[in-house]
Amino acid sequence: MFLQHRNRILRRNQSIRDLVTETVLTPNDFMLPIFITEGKNIVEEIPSMPGNFRRSLDETVKETKELWKLGIKAVNTYVKVDDKLKDNTGKEAWNPNGLMQQTIKAIKDAVPEMIVMTDVALDPYSEYGHDGIVDIKSGYILNDETVEALTLMSLSHAEAGVDFLAPSDMMDGRVGAFRKALEENGYTNVGIMSYAAKYASCFYGPFRDALDSAPGFGDKKTYQMNYANRREAINEALKDEKEGADMLMVKPAMAYLDIIREVKNAVTIPVSAYQVSGEYAMIKAAAANGWIDGEKAMIESLTSIKRAGADLISTYFAKEAAKLLNK
Ligand code: PBG
Repeated sequence: MFLQHRNRILRRNQSIRDLVTETVLTPNDFMLPIFITEGKNIVEEIPSMPGNFRRSLDETVKETKELWKLGIKAVNTYVKVDDKLKDNTGKEAWNPNGLMQQTIKAIKDAVPEMIVMTDVALDPYSEYGHDGIVDIKSGYILNDETVEALTLMSLSHAEAGVDFLAPSDMMDGRVGAFRKALEENGYTNVGIMSYAAKYASCFYGPFRDALDSAPGFGDKKTYQMNYANRREAINEALKDEKEGADMLMVKPAMAYLDIIREVKNAVTIPVSAYQVSGEYAMIKAAAANGWIDGEKAMIESLTSIKRAGADLISTYFAKEAAKLLNK
């Protein structure tokens, strides 16, 4: 038999496989989503996200120092807001002494080099659990009023010292509005990582448990995208790039690898992807049952997201993966 190419030559042993590997993970690929709650000395595990915790601010600071030592250079911060502070305007979101604002300051004080990216959306502050202000009569989420509220929220994060605003609300025009407000107020070093293509996904379930932020009525389909669509993702990405975003995000990740690749090919700014709570929970649950090897599934899933084109991955595995990769 004569074969011009034997592709197995490059797979023959570990050395040659290592030499021709295209995608290599490092802790520099990761951002870790963290959950902050009021109080002191609180470290509560989130039942549907084993290995991830809600922490009070003091514990969050300790954890951030540890993350830094492991080589993790970015955190996405999410706060759990007391029910008493929730209303339909979301005004607690721009309280200068709110939990998010305190968190930004505390992390930047403790580990100044850590990149802090804050979630910008009203859902944790909304009595209805929606990302924007609800028109009570129709149940519709008001776009322009919400963008005004989110702009106030963004400025308060900038004032507290945030590195990147990460709007996850999917209102139209918010990136442009934030950029203009940042420029006008002298916050010329604050970045915007826009959740450009965020789909209305069932994979956010465990996250909503963690923050007690599930929508009180209806769903998020009038603002988050229909998962059947791909051109729409490119459209969103190009618009956000034009409006002044520094980075984009595609969310979720594993069921959307095609979208990550297409967005990556369409824009010239970095593209991140969010391996969301439900993706994490599925791997953890299957591993706990002994149905898959959890560690291998973690690395394979993260590698696939990077291979698809993600420059950065927001993942609940960040700490575990960094520990493993550092070995
Ligand atoms: C809030 C927000 C959500 C997530 C990130 N920011 C939930 C939602 O849109 O309902 C989900 C993240 C995850 O599931 O890990 N706007």
